[in-house]
Amino acid sequence: MMLNPRYDETAQFLRQRGFDRATAGLILGTGFGRFVDHLTVDALLPYPQIPHFPVSTVPDHAGNLVCGRLQGLRLLIMQGRFHRYEGYPPSAVTFPVGVMHRLGITTLIVTNAAGGLNPGFVPGDLMVVDDHLVLMGGSALTGLEDEVPRSIPSYSRRLNDMAFALAAADRMPLRRGVLAWMLGPAFETPAEIAMLGRAGADAVTMSTIPEVAMASALGMQVMGISCIANMCVGADRPPVTHEDVMATVGRAVDRFSDLMRRMLPMVCGQPPQKGDRFSG
Ligand code: HPA
Repeated sequence: MMLNPRYDETAQFLRQRGFDRATAGLILGTGFGRFVDHLTVDALLPYPQIPHFPVSTVPDHAGNLVCGRLQGLRLLIMQGRFHRYEGYPPSAVTFPVGVMHRLGITTLIVTNAAGGLNPGFVPGDLMVVDDHLVLMGGSALTGLEDEVPRSIPSYSRRLNDMAFALAAADRMPLRRGVLAWMLGPAFETPAEIAMLGRAGADAVTMSTIPEVAMASALGMQVMGISCIANMCVGADRPPVTHEDVMATVGRAVDRFSDLMRRMLPMVCGQPPQKGDRFSG
């Protein structure tokens, strides 16, 4: 499996530039970029300078790969990601995760901005992802059948439980639920929102699921954290803009960073354990 030599070529390139010895990876979604301010940065490269990384057609969307330390713990961070709605195939969207795997990373935290479907949520809430829904008529890893083992994507029960224990000890509110994936880039229609709610989703996003599916197939322990940027249900639903999403998530980043600062030292370097998965 993972016969494609591009993963190794990129991993080798990054190792030579100081992107080595990280134990956990983080993918920072819309509005989460400021998490990097909490790190001591050891290495940083814009995506266009990394071999085989997808080429961005939208200048604004260019991101950085960052290797940095949080309390002495080395992390590999994607500051910005690639979305299917930008036209990238699953192989491109998930490529950085394959590279992280090759760099020895065993724990991946994937973040995103999401619309709230659970009426008990409010904007700014952080939601730990227990499971996800793909309703787009295809697999998150279409085209990668020869490269990664076939498996049911799953989220680490151990990481999720730990997040809740730490949040409770801090009296930090934390939600949990099922995340639905929609292609975007338009926000959902009222009929789609009604469907997603009936299907059992608590939140909806345009990202995350491909990277989670890839990491999970490669045997990494995976955690998903959504920030509820706006509510899709309820009486008061003003039109949402990208700027609104950025602002609301931006206010939750310090809470997210506190959680990571306390949690990552407890989980890093430990391989996934038996029984550590929500079954599909
Ligand atoms: N829908 C999908 N993705 C999102 C939303 C939403 O309402 N808000 C932020 N990301």
